[in-house]
Amino acid sequence: MLTRRTVLGGMAGLAGAGALAGTGMRTSPARAGEGLPARPSVPAGRRHDLTFVAAEREARLLGPSGPVSRVWTYTDDLFGVVRMRLGDTLRARLDNRLPEHTSMHWHGIRVPNSQDGVQYLTQPPVNPGETFAYEFTPPDTGTFFFHPHCNETGQVGRGLAGILIVEGDEQEPSHADLVLASKDWRLAEDGSWLSFDTLEGASRAGTFGTVRAVNGEQAFSAEVPAHGDIRLRILNLDATRMIEVGVEGAEAYVIATDGNPITPFPLHSWRLGAAMRLDVLVRAPAAGRTFRVLDYFSAEPWPLATVRAAPSGLQPRPFSPKPLYVSSVPRADLKNAERMSFAFSAATGAAGFVQAVAQDDPLAKVLLDSLCVQESTFWAINKASWPNADHRRMPPPLAMLEAGRSYVFELMNATPHPHPIHLHGHMFEVLSASRSDVPRFLADTVLLHPKERIEIAFVAERGDWMFHCHILEHLEFGMMGYVRAV
Ligand code: C2O
Ligand code: CU
Repeated sequence: MLTRRTVLGGMAGLAGAGALAGTGMRTSPARAGEGLPARPSVPAGRRHDLTFVAAEREARLLGPSGPVSRVWTYTDDLFGVVRMRLGDTLRARLDNRLPEHTSMHWHGIRVPNSQDGVQYLTQPPVNPGETFAYEFTPPDTGTFFFHPHCNETGQVGRGLAGILIVEGDEQEPSHADLVLASKDWRLAEDGSWLSFDTLEGASRAGTFGTVRAVNGEQAFSAEVPAHGDIRLRILNLDATRMIEVGVEGAEAYVIATDGNPITPFPLHSWRLGAAMRLDVLVRAPAAGRTFRVLDYFSAEPWPLATVRAAPSGLQPRPFSPKPLYVSSVPRADLKNAERMSFAFSAATGAAGFVQAVAQDDPLAKVLLDSLCVQESTFWAINKASWPNADHRRMPPPLAMLEAGRSYVFELMNATPHPHPIHLHGHMFEVLSASRSDVPRFLADTVLLHPKERIEIAFVAERGDWMFHCHILEHLEFGMMGYVRAV
């Protein structure tokens, strides 16, 4: 069995204290997506009219004979999967039957700003009993997900998230396509919820679940055709946990990061912070054999999935994955890009606006939307903690951008904790990372290790776009803001 040490020696592992640390340079800085094949023209798509009834439902998260838990979901399935083709339009009607307001944010999908699903910033909250219709045509293929944007610890913590797959990126269809959504649960033994946030967790690495699960199951397994090419779509939907994905018992190649095609390379291990995704192509072994998808970040490698090969008509043959079609994400013009720096740190000031209001003004306290506002903050971006005002009076943006212009953001982590940093509405290119040795890749969320400096580049889209850490307690307790492009 692979050990974590051999894995970390691989090309995608963390650079040790050695040569790469601190430089962020690599020998062949090819731009992300260079060399991928062009996509044949996309035929006109169709419209998917879907209704998502956000409601409380029952699930046995502690096993088939365990107690019932009251989950919150968008559909009858936990993490229901929507599949569409590139060129198709999604019309999604959200029907809120939860006891509190909610929304649908389409994580990683380059939607028009008005469809981005952020309460107060891009739309009013969808109150209990209300509906809201989203409509957009995703411009990119890939593995995405959706979730609300206030009380994320409580709503996503109870299961409120869904998966959106945009197909049309494969030159050769895979023989099976498996979704692996990793998300732990904060459950007591009787199936009831434990508090989703704790001051202890919120002020440090985050509060971990008590029960690990993939697709809602504690020991997820599946069957695939022997000798088949198996596409794994691995999503980290956890509030807190970082996983380090590897495959044991079969050859595996990384083919996409956050849904974005990348020149295939062998998967040794790849770290996924909260909200990050990885598409992997695996060649299934002979009938009767199994391979495992493992999380090497745990003290003991933890099986995310056990996959058994079943007899198929396929013959053994050499494995060299065909790359996916290149995406149409605009690439930044690095020569003329404007540079901006963002420091992710602990909150500096003592009592911010919220505490002041909450203590001194009973009326303002009533007006504050407690679903979107915490009473204290622990974290900040460029010294500003979210929210520093009532959501109904938005704080100023962290930065003003010009739509259509190229930017290089330098992200600096001044804390001892890793932070998966997400920018809405864009796919950015990760140009360099001072503590990781990885090829340039496209992403919507990047893992910023302690003391790390990362450069990302993108072309600004018009609108107000949230920019935050995706550890849910970190964003709720201050490590969030937005940028405005006009
Ligand atoms: Cu998954 Cu503000 O995002
Ligand atoms: Cu964080």
